[in-house]
Amino acid sequence: MSPIEISSGISRVFVPATVANVGPGFDCFGFGLEQKGDVVSSKVVRELGVRIATIRGDGGVLPLDTEKNTAGVAARYVWERYHPITEKFGLELEIDKGLSIGSGLGSSAASAVGGAVAAMKALVLEWSLDYDEDLVLEAAIEGEALASGTRHADNVAPALYGGFTVVQSASPPHVARFTPKLPFQVAVVTPEITITTMEARSSLPELVPLKDAAANWANAAAMVLALLHGDAELFARCLEDRVVEPHRATRIDGYEESKRAALNVGVYGCVLGGSGPAMVALAADRIVAERAGMNMARIFQDRGIRADYFISGLSASGARSI
Ligand code: HSE
Repeated sequence: MSPIEISSGISRVFVPATVANVGPGFDCFGFGLEQKGDVVSSKVVRELGVRIATIRGDGGVLPLDTEKNTAGVAARYVWERYHPITEKFGLELEIDKGLSIGSGLGSSAASAVGGAVAAMKALVLEWSLDYDEDLVLEAAIEGEALASGTRHADNVAPALYGGFTVVQSASPPHVARFTPKLPFQVAVVTPEITITTMEARSSLPELVPLKDAAANWANAAAMVLALLHGDAELFARCLEDRVVEPHRATRIDGYEESKRAALNVGVYGCVLGGSGPAMVALAADRIVAERAGMNMARIFQDRGIRADYFISGLSASGARSI
C-alpha cells in the first residue's frame, strides 16, 4: 500500500483477564482466564500521534489522555518505534473495558497489552511490516508500569500469551510459558473493595524474613513441578504465600473467613488475585469451584460488602484478534 493512502482496516484485539502471583510467585507467576477481558481497537488516521477516541465500560474513570492511560502508553511505544514510517500518520484507539479497575484481575495489564498488540497489528495491516513479538511485550510492560509505579510483567505475560507464565525477569523481559498438565477450575470472587496496585505495592516491606522467603521459593519451584507433572497433592501444598499476601490480607475484611470457606469445600487452595481484592480458589473441577465461589461470596455479602463470583478455566490463548 502506498504510504499516502490509508486503508479503512480496523484491528480489534481481545485480551483476557489474568491472575498474577498465584500464591508464592509474587511478580513471577500468572495465568490467563477464559472468562472476561478487554477489547482494544485501532486504526490508522491522518491526524498525527496516538490518541484514544473512546473508552466504554469504565464508568468514566479512565483518562483519554494517551500519556495517562496504559493502553495509550503501550500503543505509543510501538508506534514511535516505527518512525519515520508512522511520523506522518496517527493511530486512533477505542477501548472497551470488560474488566473492572482495581479488582485484581489484571485490568491495567489487559489494556496495556491491548494497546501494544492493536498498534502492532495496525502496522502489519497498513504497511505489511513483520509482527515484532518482543517489542509488543516491552511496550505492554511500559504501559503497565504507568498503573503500578514499577515494571512487572506477571499480568502482562499471561494476558499476551495465555497459559501459565513464569516471568524470570521484567527488565529485560524474559518469560517462560507452559500449559499445566494438571487441569483446574477457578472460582474468582470479587468483593466490592477497590485496591489500586500502586497502593498495594507501596505498603509492602522492603525486607522480608529469610525463613518466609525460603518457604516461598520452595513453594514456587514445587508448584511449577506439580503443574508440569500433574501432581494435585503437591500443588495443593504449594498454594501459600508467606511474604506478600499476609500484608495485603489485612485490607480485605472477610479474607480469612472466605479462604476457610473455600478450603472447607475441598479446593486445592485459595489466594489473592494479584494485589487483590479478588480472591481466587483453585479447584479440581467446576462443581467444587462453584461451591467455593458461592460460599466465599456469601461471607462478604454477610458483612455488607457486595461480592460477585464467576467460574473459569485457564485460558490456553492470550491476546487475539476478533
Ligand atoms: N505482582 C503484582 C502485585 C500483580 O502483586 O503487585 C498486580 O499487578
